[in-house]
Amino acid sequence: MADDKTTHFGFKTVNRGEKVNMVAGVFHSVAGKYDLMNDLMSGGIHRLWKRFTIELSGVRRGNSVLDIAGGTGDLAAKFSRLVGSEGKVVLADINDSMLQVGREKLTNRGIVGNIEYVQANAECLPFPDNSFDCITIAFGLRNVTDKDAALRSMLRVLKPGGRLLVLEFSKPTNELMSKVYDRYSFDILPRMGKLITNDEDSYRYLAESIRMHPDQETLKEMMAEAGFAEVRYHNMTAGVVAVHRGVKP
Ligand SMILES: C[S@@+](CC[C@H](N)C(=O)[O-])C[C@H]1O[C@@H](n2cnc3c(N)ncnc32)[C@H](O)[C@@H]1O
Repeated sequence: MADDKTTHFGFKTVNRGEKVNMVAGVFHSVAGKYDLMNDLMSGGIHRLWKRFTIELSGVRRGNSVLDIAGGTGDLAAKFSRLVGSEGKVVLADINDSMLQVGREKLTNRGIVGNIEYVQANAECLPFPDNSFDCITIAFGLRNVTDKDAALRSMLRVLKPGGRLLVLEFSKPTNELMSKVYDRYSFDILPRMGKLITNDEDSYRYLAESIRMHPDQETLKEMMAEAGFAEVRYHNMTAGVVAVHRGVKP
């Protein structure tokens, strides 16, 4: 069990100060093959989860958007097109390897001009109060040591009326899906990780960290507790993934 001084790194209990370096190790290791693994692991379905998140965001031309824990920039790329030249997108991540892969991918696709890259920790965002119309954090909050601090930090930098979207693995809504998913993530994922990235441990961490992440209702309460209004969530793929949406009052 984690206490004040400890936290979870997958199923391990570690000192709070250690987790950030352990998470960094995972993403430095997988960065180069991250996009390929995402497509293989999800059978491409992560693209649909992300598309739905974009639809819920309500982002329009001229908006400013922060994609924190944005990694290789899938959401940031789509937001860049939506906000146009009058808008602004910040792709931010704590990990310079992931950020580097993201920057190269987006630049190669000609996505330039309205996008900035910032290395930042979600727990203490380096932006002024009331800066963004929308913030997304996709498959990132699970890895953050102090999730409450991150939610408060995101609230601070959102403009009043701005939306936060948290896309994250969650708790399957039926028993059968839960069993199939457990077998897949604990038996098959680490083997795929070993085969493709030569890194079984990072993909075991992925499966374990998903199980340790707050379920749909708990995350909804955490967002409300941090100060978000109108907090709602939508399950996708029978609750394997959920997207939570909250508004800054
Ligand atoms: C699973 S990847 C998700 C990348 C991207 N959002 C996507 O959906 O494909 C998780 C990302 O969270 C980043 N991350 C982990 N802890 C973070 C923190 N405290 N602050 C900001 N980013 C963090 C990692 O470096 C990694 O790039």
